[in-house]
Amino acid sequence: MDVMTKSKPFALAPLPYDEAALAPTISAKTMSFHYGKHHKAYVDKLNELAKGTGYAEMKLPDVVQATFKDSSKQAIFNNAAQAWNHAFFWACLTPRGGAPEGGLMAALERDLGGYERFKDEFAKQGAAQFGSGWVWLVADKGKLKIEKTPDAVTPMAQGKTCLLTIDVWEHAYYLDYQNRRPDFLKAVIGNLLNWDFAAQNFERAG
Ligand SMILES: [Fe+2]
Repeated sequence: MDVMTKSKPFALAPLPYDEAALAPTISAKTMSFHYGKHHKAYVDKLNELAKGTGYAEMKLPDVVQATFKDSSKQAIFNNAAQAWNHAFFWACLTPRGGAPEGGLMAALERDLGGYERFKDEFAKQGAAQFGSGWVWLVADKGKLKIEKTPDAVTPMAQGKTCLLTIDVWEHAYYLDYQNRRPDFLKAVIGNLLNWDFAAQNFERAG
């Protein structure tokens, strides 16, 4: 999926799989609310806020980057970033989760101590994000890093290349895991991460 595609007005792209495809790790009910209500609401609100402004003519990532760190544009940033983050998140998941290979596996070993260490640290950082937010695998100046961000903040706005993410807002897991965010993270990391998508992003990072 190309999350960079221009869409006007901003569109809610279809999920790359059926809502039930990620069960039991993520239930169809969670997907129905998360995609059909939460993600849709960010896209709808973005269209409302962008209407009649120059932002309506821009690509979604450009809106995110243009409004980041501008407190007078906080509402449009929040909704644009959440629209982008969620589309990216759906692409990071697959019912056929595997393991990293090739150049990406070598980079994980070089920068993060290997795949097993990555899995532990990704889960740890995701659990450590206080309140709502995201955990990311990014490439920054040729180096892989794990980062957590609050609310809608996205490393993409900071010029980093996102490889993978997991949404750690409560709406992402509460129906299936209640307050057990670490269990949700462990299950998603073990079962659903789309390493082919991560490898494509890694190649784009150069
Ligand atoms: Fe979410």
